[in-house]
Amino acid sequence: MKILAPSILSADFTNLSQQIRLVEMAGADWIHCDVMDGHFVPNITFGPFIVEAVNRITQLPLDVHLMIENPEYYIKDFVDAGADSITVHFEEVRHLNRVINQVKELGAKAGVVINPATPVQSIRDVAEYIDLLLIMTVNPGFGGQKFIPNSVRRIHEAVELREKFRAKFLIEVDGGINSQTIKSTCDAGADVFVAGASIFKSENISASTAELKNLISS
Ligand code: DX5
Ligand code: ZN
Repeated sequence: MKILAPSILSADFTNLSQQIRLVEMAGADWIHCDVMDGHFVPNITFGPFIVEAVNRITQLPLDVHLMIENPEYYIKDFVDAGADSITVHFEEVRHLNRVINQVKELGAKAGVVINPATPVQSIRDVAEYIDLLLIMTVNPGFGGQKFIPNSVRRIHEAVELREKFRAKFLIEVDGGINSQTIKSTCDAGADVFVAGASIFKSENISASTAELKNLISS
């Protein structure tokens, strides 16, 4: 099953519960939460406090993308706040195998994120242990950026790598996903689709959610 995960990064936070309700009703499968610390990326968003509030708003699984330094210090806080999956950046984590185990031991799904310039092959020795591989399709830090075209080739590489190592991780794409780009990532083999601006900055949140969901379901 293909999974649509709206990112609340582009939502109107004065109306967060209403906006989450809209995407939920229109077929969203997960809610993607972008945590940024102003160090790993040049932007600051929110921490466990907001994730915990979102967890009270929705029954949907919360997919927490940590764009922070030393994510290992905060994993328990995010799991306690209600995170169902936690993804950490390959570029940041020194003891990746350990952090993956830490996430799984706390009962969440564990994922690794790779930036656009990080080779897909970098994750080969954790492939069997992860639940998610998040391929950034823009440089992390901001919503509303343009999809990087060679991401499609990178998705194909991830599918091959998964087969080669008989791994089971889902392939997630994040950044610049909209009605023009989603199909190419879906056809290449992505399983989870994060979309921020194309949903929350659109004129009709319900209609754009339904449109994206439809494009990955057909
Ligand atoms: C970017 C974040 C994304 C962001 C995507 O650093 O990881 O999740 O919300 O936003 P759009 O869909 O607007 O590119
Ligand atoms: Zn994200």
